[in-house]
Amino acid sequence: MRSRIAIIGTGYVGLTTGACFAHLGHDVVCADIDPRRIERLSQGILPIFEPGLQEIVEAEIESGRLRFVVGAAEAAKDCEFAYLCVQTPQGQDGAADLTFLQAAAAEIAHVLPAHAVVVNKSTVPVGSTKVVERVLNRHDVSVVSNPEFLREGSAVSDFLKPDRVVIGSDDPSAAARVSDLYSATSGHIIVTDPASAETIKYAANAFLATKISFVNAVAAVCEAVGADVNDVVLGIGYDKRIGHEFLRPGPGWGGSCFPKDTRAMMKIAEDAGYDFNLLKGVVVVNDEQRERMVAKVERAVGGELKGAVVAAWGLTFKANTDDLRESPAIAVISELLAKGAIVRAYDPQVSSHPAIDVGSDPYDVCDGADALIVLTEWDQFRWLDLDEVKRRLGRANIVDTRNLLDRSAAIRAGFTYQGVGR
Ligand code: UGA
Repeated sequence: MRSRIAIIGTGYVGLTTGACFAHLGHDVVCADIDPRRIERLSQGILPIFEPGLQEIVEAEIESGRLRFVVGAAEAAKDCEFAYLCVQTPQGQDGAADLTFLQAAAAEIAHVLPAHAVVVNKSTVPVGSTKVVERVLNRHDVSVVSNPEFLREGSAVSDFLKPDRVVIGSDDPSAAARVSDLYSATSGHIIVTDPASAETIKYAANAFLATKISFVNAVAAVCEAVGADVNDVVLGIGYDKRIGHEFLRPGPGWGGSCFPKDTRAMMKIAEDAGYDFNLLKGVVVVNDEQRERMVAKVERAVGGELKGAVVAAWGLTFKANTDDLRESPAIAVISELLAKGAIVRAYDPQVSSHPAIDVGSDPYDVCDGADALIVLTEWDQFRWLDLDEVKRRLGRANIVDTRNLLDRSAAIRAGFTYQGVGR
């Protein structure tokens, strides 16, 4: 069934949600407060890099199912569903700041047609569905929580082929209507109350962050006892209760979600009177992991970072995105710079950075360097010519924080190679 959907906020979540709903056959109007952003989006120019999204946006503008307008009220005045996809930045006390969400709800309150459903997709603290209900103050409009589980870099397929769709509502008919929007996808539909839906979002991200910190802690043990974390993960991962996913060791987790959502989850727990010590430990391990990567570079260059030249591959918080928010790569490089190292970085999606010298060629940044550190798992780094890298570097040291390169090939080529947990 074809529905009329308004999307409020054209950030990464709103844009993906809007474009994908149009792709599923719905009529979508996306709204933003920024006129320039809307003008560019209407021409198919995207503010973010997300594989597959450009093609869908272009095709759906062409089909007429996807439009962009300035202002939430303009989008919502004729809709059956209004998706709130505005940012919920971290407030000073660690809790999510709901200012944008409340402003968006207030703006559409007077124009929403009767029986519209307002859907909260932003990541918000437990109880926010009720906050939106209060701001709207419309007894003929239902509010539903429908959290997103989109990963940057694979957001389009995460949306179109979801593991599950979570719908939280006290109104069964509104929940059924939201569930119908996803009928063309194959995900499990979980209908629950709003507080549970909101908790599912935080619990999912907190658990994934826990898995990564766990494997990073195991990697530290592996280094100490002479084990290989890759084999350990292989060995535990075949246990179906554990699985292989999200157990790749690295420089720690970052991005726009895990850091913010783990802090928000700790704050939610604290406010509710529970001390979430487990999650506190997960964050501590993550902070330590960055230090551990810096210490590896320090060892590689002979113990003194002051004046050492370091080539860095990767700046984004993970591969297949141009997002630098809370990037572990940036954190590690900043620490190297603070300790007096001279860092030259390369990233396929980043051409400049206010605090970091960024080059345009992965080999050029290696020229004369005392060590190469691999910080983001871009696939192209795997295929670069190690002999050429060795010719360019001043000293043949590699610190591979993603266990990305072929360790045996690097050792054969004459490098001193340090990975993580092996
Ligand atoms: C994450 C979740 O995976 C999504 O399900 C969720 O919807 C999203 O947050 C959100 O809340 O909006 P994302 O931040 O795009 O998605 O990135 P992830 O792929 O989860 O990676 C997060 C961080 O963990 C990255 O720094 C990544 O490099 C790191 N990571 C991930 C590892 O170090 N090891 C792994 O095995 C997996």
